[in-house]
Order: sequence, then C-alpha cells, then structure tokens
Amino acid sequence: MLSHVDGERGELIIAGEHVADLAGKSRFEGVTARLWNGATGRSLSEANVRASLGAARERAFARLPDLLPATRGLSIVDGFRAAIAGLRGESGLDHEATIVGALPAIAAALVQHVRGTDPVAPDPNISHAADTLRMLLGRKPDPREVAALDAYFVTVCDHGMNASTFATRVVASTQADLFAAVTAGYCALTGPLHGGAPEPVLEMLDAIGTRERIQPWVDAALGRGERLMGFGHRIYRVRDPRADVLKAAIERLAAGGADLPFASEVESYIRQALRRKNPERPLETNVEFFTAILLDALAIPRQAFTPIFAVARAAGWTAHAREQQRTGRLIRPSSCYVGPAPGAANG
Ligand code: ACO
Repeated sequence: MLSHVDGERGELIIAGEHVADLAGKSRFEGVTARLWNGATGRSLSEANVRASLGAARERAFARLPDLLPATRGLSIVDGFRAAIAGLRGESGLDHEATIVGALPAIAAALVQHVRGTDPVAPDPNISHAADTLRMLLGRKPDPREVAALDAYFVTVCDHGMNASTFATRVVASTQADLFAAVTAGYCALTGPLHGGAPEPVLEMLDAIGTRERIQPWVDAALGRGERLMGFGHRIYRVRDPRADVLKAAIERLAAGGADLPFASEVESYIRQALRRKNPERPLETNVEFFTAILLDALAIPRQAFTPIFAVARAAGWTAHAREQQRTGRLIRPSSCYVGPAPGAANG
C-alpha cells in the first residue's frame, strides 16, 4: 500500500511521510517518483519525473485536436472524462507519465474553451504545478501561487483505498491497461460524496453570503436533512489532516480573493451544528472544504475543481494500478443474494 490513513488519530502517511511534512518540503514530481518507485521497484528521481511529465504535457497538447471533439457540448467535468477516455499509450513511453502529464493539458484546454480562448501550449521546462497554472490562467503564475498549487497536489496525490483508487484497482486487477483503470478512477471521483464536493462547497459559501446568515442557513439546511459538503468522512473520526495543510497553504498564499476568516467562521459553526445534530457520529471538516477555497483563490474556475483534483490524484491512481497489476489477483467480491428462491414465485 502506498499511503496509510489512520482515521482514529487523524494521520495520513504518503510514501513514508506525514502529509504535513511532505506538503511543506516536497514537490509533486518528487512525491510522484516515490509513489511510482514504491509500486514498481524502479528508482526514478524527481528530475526524471519532471522531465517525463513535461514531455507528456507536450505530447498531450499535440493530441488535443483528436481528443477535444469528443468533449464538445459537455461540461468541463464530463468533457474531461470523454477526453481522458481517448488517451492511449505509445510504445517505449511510460503510460504513467503519459496520463499524469496529459491531464493538466486537457483540463486547461477545456477551461480555455469555455472562456472562448485557444489552449495555451505547455512549457516542459517548468514544474508540473507551475505549468498547470500557466495553462489554466493563460499567464505566468506568481511563485506563491505555484507553491500553493504544488502543496495541494502533494496533499491530495494519494489517500489509501478511497473510492476512486479502489475503482482504479478493480479495473487494473483485470489486467486492463492504465488508461482504462484511470478513466474508471476519474468516474468514481466525480460524485459529490467524493471529489465532486468542492464546487458545492463554494456554492454553499455563496448561498450563506454573510456572517449573520451562517447560523440560520446552516440550521435550515440540516433541518431539511441535507448533507453539508466538505464535512464528514468514511474513515476519519477526527479532523482530516489535509484540511489544516491546505488551510496553511491558503494563509501562505495570502490571496486577496480568499475570504478565509468568513470561511473559517462557517466551518466553525458547521462543526458545532453537526456535533449537536449527530452527537454519536463525529463529523469533522474534510479536505474538500479548504480545497474549494484554495482553488478559488488561485482563480481556477469552480467547474474545473474535480478535474484539477484528478490531475493530482492520477499520481496515486497510476501507482495503485501498477501495484495491482504487478502483485494483485482479480478483485471479485462475492455478493449476498436476497431475491426469491427458484420456483418460489410460482409457489
Ligand atoms: N452533513 C450532514 N450530515 C452528514 C454529513 C454531512 N456532510 N456526513 C454525514 N452525515 C450524517 C448522515 O446524514 C448520517 O446521519 P443519520 O445517521 O442521521 O442518517 C450520519 O452522518 C452518518 O453518515 P454516513 O452516510 O454513514 O457516513 P459515510 O461514512 O457514509 O459518509 C461521506 C462519508 C460520504 C463523506 C459523508 O460524510 C458526506 O456525504 N459528506 C459530504 C460530502 C463530502 O464532503 N465529500 C467529500 C469527502 S472527502 C473525499 O472524498 C476526497
């Protein structure tokens, strides 16, 4: 296993390090190298991965004319699915790098298409986070912006056996190729109970709007039995450690556009309200709450939040798929039949 989640203690270890330590000092390419090495026994360096991702971004950009027609008329989230399903391997090139390098080029091209502008060609000589932002924003990003996106990529690149990673591994366990496995992972990610939550987090903050409305809005939503996006987790019974890592990254970014004090007030009230409503079931802030604020502060359009999550998580998906293909058996759970016995319907 490539990362470890301790839900009782609120700990996440990725490739042998606590997420808070990793996000402060490692770049996405370095962590990706460690994940791929862990899965395959190779000894790639950060520089190797940086070079192979740069080249893969360029290859993907050259293939955009083939990939983008399938996305026309679709939302960014759905168009991204159609485009990644069209990726394919080329002999002599690592499929892992082809996939992880392609995703930001595709996501950025979809964002530019919505803006009515042409895709921005990648720069293979800068970091994956820097080039992702450059292609998304259509300008050279500030080093603090790059550091914030890189911290985000590192923080969410892998997370144990979450739903999308499990979906990826199920497909990889059939010996289907990495492209099929990652497409399955992305499909699982898009749901609002998993990686589709950050856009609704922003919608919630917009709907609340002002400090005075926090309490009545949250109480009314919980009264209607709604789930509040960015809270609760299947594994964590305490605060998701990634939430604080991302909050610190937002503070370092110090973006004028991010109203962190307001978001923190909303967070604080929701935690109290959830404790009152479900005293037996700890429901704490998860990674998606601060993901929404961080990506919004970077001026990434909210419709692209899930694809940008996938850009980072693809490092984990590809590593898990390789590990599964190398060491695993076919994943085939048994099920419990609850229908009638043969002949019972007639008798
Ligand atoms: N808001 C309000 N109530 C909640 C929330 C929430 N966010 N999460 C759980 N609950 C309540 C449920 O309604 C349920 O109450 P009940 O027993 O009275 O019916 C109780 O807590 C237990 O809920 P479960 O569904 O058993 O919790 P589960 O472990 O299945 O859910 C999940 C985990 C899906 C993340 C859930 O907490 C949720 O829907 N959160 C909102 C969506 C979200 O933030 N998703 C991102 C997760 S992080 C990630 O995937 C990257």
